[in-house]
Amino acid sequence: MNGDPRSETLPIRSSDDIVLVRQHVRTRAIQEGFSLVDQTKLVTAASELARNTMTHGGGGSALIETLNHNGRRGLKITFEDKGPGIADIELAMKDGYTSRGGLGLGLSGAKRLSNEFEIASNTGQGTRVSIVRWK
Ligand SMILES: Nc1ncnc2c1ncn2[C@@H]1O[C@H](COP(=O)(O)OP(=O)(O)OP(=O)(O)O)[C@@H](O)[C@H]1O
Ligand SMILES: [Mg+2]
Repeated sequence: MNGDPRSETLPIRSSDDIVLVRQHVRTRAIQEGFSLVDQTKLVTAASELARNTMTHGGGGSALIETLNHNGRRGLKITFEDKGPGIADIELAMKDGYTSRGGLGLGLSGAKRLSNEFEIASNTGQGTRVSIVRWK
C-alpha cells in the first residue's frame, strides 16, 4: 500500500498530531463527498480515538484508508498503539466507564458515530480500534 495516496499513516504522539489527524480526516471526508454532518461524525469519532491512542495507549498511529466495495465508498480509520491494552473490553465500551477520570464516552461515542466499529486489544501488547463510515 506504500505510495497509495488513498492510504496514509499518521503518527499520534502529541496534541498537535491529534489536530493533524482531525484535519486529514476532514479533508478526506470532503474529498469523498461526505455531507457536513457525516464529516463531523467521522472527525469527532476519530478525535476521541486519537486521544485514547495518545493518553491511554502512550502514542501510536492512525491509518486512513478509502474503501470502495462494489461502488460504495467509505473511509476507514485504524488506530493502533503498543500500550498497556484493555483488560475488559466490554467494560471499557460502557457509557461512562473511565479508568482515568475522563467522561468515559470516547469509545461508546465513536461506535455510535460510525457505521462499523472493531476493537482488538491484548493486555501488555496494545490496542487496535478501527471505524468505518460509508457514504
Ligand atoms: N488505546 C487504549 N489503550 C488502553 N486503554 C484504553 C485505550 N482506549 C481506551 N482505553 C480504556 O477504555 C476506557 C474508556 O475509554 P473512553 O474513551 O470511553 O473513556 P475515557 O478516555 O476514559 O474518557 P473520555 O470520555 O474523556 O474519552 C479508558 O478509560 C481506558 O481505560
Ligand atoms: Mg477517551
